Amino acid sequence: MCGIFACISKDNKTAVKVINGLKKLEYRGYDSWGISYKNANGINVVKEVGKISAFDPEEANFADSNVAIAHTRWATHGGVEVRNAHPHLNKENTIAVVHNGIIENYIELKNELIKKGYEFKSDTDTEVIVQMIDSYMDFGFEKAIEKTVARFEGRFAIVVIDKNADEIIACRRGSPLILGVGKEETFIASDIPAFLSHTNVVNYIDDDEMVKITSSERHFYSLRTGDEIQKRDIQIEWNIEDAEKGDFTHFMLKEIFDQKETVQRAVDQSDEEIMAVAEKIKKSKGVFFVGCGTAGKVAKAGEYFFAHVAKRHVNFAPASEFPLFHNFLLPETLVFAISQSGETADVLEALEVAQKAGSTVFSLTNVVGSSIARKSDISLFIKAGPEKAVASTKAATSQLALLLLIAYAVAGKLEEGKKLLLEISSNVNDLLNPRFVAHTESVAKKIAHKDNLFIIGKGVNYPMAEESAIKIQEVSQIHAEGFAGGELKHGPIAMIEEGTPCLVLVGDDESKQEIVSNAIELKSRGAMIIGIASEKHDCFDEFIRVPESGVASCITNLIPIQLLSFYLGVERGLDPDMPRNLAKSVTVK
Ligand code: F6R
Repeated sequence: MCGIFACISKDNKTAVKVINGLKKLEYRGYDSWGISYKNANGINVVKEVGKISAFDPEEANFADSNVAIAHTRWATHGGVEVRNAHPHLNKENTIAVVHNGIIENYIELKNELIKKGYEFKSDTDTEVIVQMIDSYMDFGFEKAIEKTVARFEGRFAIVVIDKNADEIIACRRGSPLILGVGKEETFIASDIPAFLSHTNVVNYIDDDEMVKITSSERHFYSLRTGDEIQKRDIQIEWNIEDAEKGDFTHFMLKEIFDQKETVQRAVDQSDEEIMAVAEKIKKSKGVFFVGCGTAGKVAKAGEYFFAHVAKRHVNFAPASEFPLFHNFLLPETLVFAISQSGETADVLEALEVAQKAGSTVFSLTNVVGSSIARKSDISLFIKAGPEKAVASTKAATSQLALLLLIAYAVAGKLEEGKKLLLEISSNVNDLLNPRFVAHTESVAKKIAHKDNLFIIGKGVNYPMAEESAIKIQEVSQIHAEGFAGGELKHGPIAMIEEGTPCLVLVGDDESKQEIVSNAIELKSRGAMIIGIASEKHDCFDEFIRVPESGVASCITNLIPIQLLSFYLGVERGLDPDMPRNLAKSVTVK
């Protein structure tokens, strides 16, 4: 949700470098983009509405510069217009700011600045930041930033340059910022892929920290105490290929195919670590699984895994609703957050609520060093590699696999769980063959013109029906809804008419007969039934066969759903990697 990339270097081609790096963050927002770069003439600005990927920096004739900051925007405050694109500058064009997050009290601060005579050109909360820094500049550049952020309520990551200072200053609270240590150059970005072609050595910037960088130096300070902080250089394991599309047309398709390996990687964890998590779960008084969107559906599937495999009651709450359950939190309660990015604002807030009550916090994320991982008492990683398509695919199946393994560990059956998940990984690998993909594409072609689509599942496939709806909605913009099969006859069946496509996720467990009966009920109302199952049934008009997978059928059933969503999007002329109105990593509430 908004991408920031900045560089200060000994070489003077930073503008091109920063644009190329920003392109790697396009998944974080693609409404508009902008860059400010500095040279002897002052601060230059280029801003455009639309996607950064369409812009060729080599043709732009950028003047030489060794300092540049850039931003790709997912609009929150102010429409998609050039005047609302970042960077924002003060009146004299001597200070430029890029920002990710929301300054919740910006209206109050804006009114205060207007009274002082400041004029605003945009509708953004970000312009308040630059004008406020300007208003404090008598204290010096660094102090002006400190004084400004001390006034903010909300979450922010900001990067600032001053025409008269040979440094970049950045601060964060709640939104991600990572520093990349290059050779005679230093980078600051919302996410690692922006600078991965230059360096894999990083420093994590924590909440309420400020960093001042030059091409060869970096100094970290606490915004609370003003004390300097020492940081460890961390070498990260991702390589450039992991963050590129390779021969695939889209990141989404590449990431679907990555699942040939990622399910296995997710469960390749140390036994000691998994058992430590399992023991803590067993000793806790109350477990909550929380997450948003797709990760939330995985968390909901976790309820079923624990009911069936571990025979333990756990609660699921969407992270945005979780704070309303604060009365049930005890020091012995365990809150388990699931998040691909590790930066989702609603999840972070849920964890803050849990920690305030003294509860223990565990997390399962994909990004080492992410805010959620760093906030957690124990953090596990799914090791799926960068997920860049906005629609989550490989992260979801990896989260499901690891959560299921934990349920087996709680049941005292870790080895059984490992064996099952090894089989599932090999099933996923087999599924992703050209024939299967072509068959799924052909089914997508048959229904791509439909306006409405329903998905049903039972047991652990019920949250997967809801996940399927999320995937189809975001990638294809078809109106899709997912239900527990038994719920249809209580209302939604009224929506079924002749030819309405209904996807039926059949599990390989005790739910099988009932969900097939639900499919028959739909068929008798005229629905076109697309069965995703390990066995064919007469009521299916279209059949997508998946291998028998027991309690892990939710993992194998998701593979055709992801492919269907992708091909539905393509058929409807959409870009599956960049769904309308969305962005990866939702760092605002
Ligand atoms: C949908 C999707 C979103 C995310 C949600 C949470 O395909 O990707 O629903 O799952 O925004 O994001 P994370 O997992 O990063 O917390």
